[in-house]
Amino acid sequence: MVLRDLNMSPCLEIYGCKETGRCVIQDDFQKVYDQILACHGLMLASPIFFYTVSAHAKILMDRCQALWAKRYWLEKTPIGRCNHTCKGLFISVGATKGKKLFDGTLLSIRYFFDVLDTELWRSLLYRSLDFERDVLVHPEYLKEAYRAGKELIHAIKNME
Ligand SMILES: Cc1cc2nc3c(=O)[nH]c(=O)nc-3n(C[C@H](O)[C@H](O)[C@H](O)COP(=O)(O)O)c2cc1C
Repeated sequence: MVLRDLNMSPCLEIYGCKETGRCVIQDDFQKVYDQILACHGLMLASPIFFYTVSAHAKILMDRCQALWAKRYWLEKTPIGRCNHTCKGLFISVGATKGKKLFDGTLLSIRYFFDVLDTELWRSLLYRSLDFERDVLVHPEYLKEAYRAGKELIHAIKNME
């Protein structure tokens, strides 16, 4: 799913989700919400924009406040995925080399995944990639990402 192709409003902080744990804004997030609830594995990829995720990724994260409300206000238990947590893979790239490039983002992602009852199973973080074709100089990154996708599937199957 390419987040920027979806019609997804930012969270408006109107807390319609307080009643049912479901966001009341009727847009493409509704189907994403159902998929998140049904899945056992989640991959999220975002470039680093100003030391955090892209606006599209952040919109998705904020709309999941409905799941936060479901978990902490309504049901007062983890959202529940057949008694096991979901596994999450996070992939990110940034243009610079900074040691702390991913620090803030990883904090947000861990907290976000936690709300989704999802373990941060693996993160792939790549520095010094700025333009579209830069990654082609590093075929090992592409191989690693491909392998991580396959390993995530295996890890999920082994849980079942
Ligand atoms: C609005 C904007 C903000 C950015 N902020 C950062 C930043 O804080 N640190 C960084 O290393 N790169 C930053 N970049 C560069 C992108 O992370 C980099 O170009 C990345 O490779 C884009 O990945 P993509 O081509 O997969 O979307 C920024 C780029 C844009 C457009």
